[in-house]
Amino acid sequence: MSTTRALSKEHQTILARIQLLERACLDLLKRRTLTSRTDDGKIPDLVEDFLQSKLGIMLHFKVEEEALFPTLRSVSESNETAISALIGEHKTIMQKFSALHHAKETGTPIDVLLDLLRDLSAHAAREERLYPSLIQSLTEEQLKRIDDEAKRLGYAV
Ligand SMILES: [Fe+2]
Ligand SMILES: [Fe+2]
Repeated sequence: MSTTRALSKEHQTILARIQLLERACLDLLKRRTLTSRTDDGKIPDLVEDFLQSKLGIMLHFKVEEEALFPTLRSVSESNETAISALIGEHKTIMQKFSALHHAKETGTPIDVLLDLLRDLSAHAAREERLYPSLIQSLTEEQLKRIDDEAKRLGYAV
């Protein structure tokens, strides 16, 4: 599978996963409001489960920043604004992962988790809208270069 295809597939997977996780979090919050319970044993599991995906997301961002984006930049300067915004979003998302680690320790992670999930799903959806037209302008040779660089970074495609 090509790198661009694999990135897109990961967007679809994370979007579906976030949708389920968001629903589970909102259900817990609703139940908490209805029953006035301040703690719920399932929250740490949901948070821990999502924290497990951090390494995979970090590699995904790395492949975009070090394999895909440099090639898109070389094709047209007009891609720069969109790429800079996406890199800024990667930074914010990683900061929110750190905040989630911290919130897990202090015992109040659900709002932090929901905030992170919203940012990450908006980011993945934005890339899914942007990528097709950006990738369409790439030559076979440029796509091959992206694949080679992604492999060098340890991205199994
Ligand atoms: Fe991204
Ligand atoms: Fe992405």
